Amino acid sequence: MSKNFWQSVILGVAMVSLCCAQSLRREADNTGTLIGTAVRPSLFLETAYASTLAREFSMVEPEDAMKWRALRPDANTYDFRQGDEVVHFAQIHQMKVRGHCLVWDHDNPDWLAHGHFTSRDLSRLLHEHITRVMKHYKGQVFAWDVINEAMDEKGNVRDSIWYNEPGIGLSEKDTAYIEQVFRWARKADPHALLFYNEAEGEGLNRKSDAIYAMMKDFKGRGVPINGVGLQMHVPTLELDTSALAASLSANIARLTALGLQVHITELDVALPIDANGVSRPDDLVREADLYRGIVRACLGHAGCTAIQTWGFTDKYSWIGSHSRHTRGQGLPFDRTYQPKSAYRAVLEELSAGRLPPH
Ligand code: G3I
Repeated sequence: MSKNFWQSVILGVAMVSLCCAQSLRREADNTGTLIGTAVRPSLFLETAYASTLAREFSMVEPEDAMKWRALRPDANTYDFRQGDEVVHFAQIHQMKVRGHCLVWDHDNPDWLAHGHFTSRDLSRLLHEHITRVMKHYKGQVFAWDVINEAMDEKGNVRDSIWYNEPGIGLSEKDTAYIEQVFRWARKADPHALLFYNEAEGEGLNRKSDAIYAMMKDFKGRGVPINGVGLQMHVPTLELDTSALAASLSANIARLTALGLQVHITELDVALPIDANGVSRPDDLVREADLYRGIVRACLGHAGCTAIQTWGFTDKYSWIGSHSRHTRGQGLPFDRTYQPKSAYRAVLEELSAGRLPPH
């Protein structure tokens, strides 16, 4: 047999195993669900990062690259380079892109946060930003977190430069500025899915009640909105997994009953870690249980259409940097890109498909 013959056999076997190997994205495709993760484009050059990402996920969201701080070095400049890298990676690997986020009170550049602008200036800046960024990514970003974390834990609209410090100049109702940004977003891109994204309102509580009321009001009055992003950062293991999953499922049920989609947008589970960054074996099992319950709760509702983790390897996660290294190991792959029990739990649930929640 010629060398060429054996080379084609080897290539063929490699292609078959690539195409048919089990992966999160393959199982998610079978259920009609998107499986996504937040990404940092500076890491695409790391082979294990890029290959794991491309193999396992069907959707990416820039962790920081489409925030104001990254896109707007100054008031007159748009720097789309990092965001474009995410879109390019996604196109090469047939992935969808979620955009994050057009309006937030955090991670804004200093010129904006400390600029002492008038309401009129802020309104013009925000309208222009939404329009320019959405038009740039039209047809490439299929869904946007239009506004992020606008409510406090009591369900009141949070103080922010856009709302009341000094705000964009809409005083008739506290949710008026939120409504306005959705209307601007719809004009900028008539086809993108528009999401309200929020933390700590995943299950039934005061905040999720307020979000539900706002969504009901918006849907009733034809405000353009397509979905709610439930972030799902699990901060502790001191939670009853079944109670958490049941409460999440009930919230997804009422939101989807309004005709909205739900995306789980920022899933991770902060585990206690020792001085070497290692967690207890039992905690890894509990983490997997939490992942399982959350994925199952989503798959129990046809309107829950995407599940996304906030990063995928414990090597790169916001958790370590925000908790003085007492918490970590929150993601489905460990620091060497080996799948953890949490990964296997997600894979099993996706393989089981869209069954009603247990
Ligand atoms: O890019 C600047 C760099 O120019 C500067 O030199 C450096 C010095 O501090 O900071 C860099 O910005 C950092 C940015 O990440 C990009 O790396 C910010 O300081 C840092 O605060 C920022 O943290 C991000 C945080 O949101 C705030 O935007 C985290 O990576 C990101 O994981 C986290 O993600 C949020 C979601 O957007 C919303 N939901 C909660 C979630 C977790 O906090």
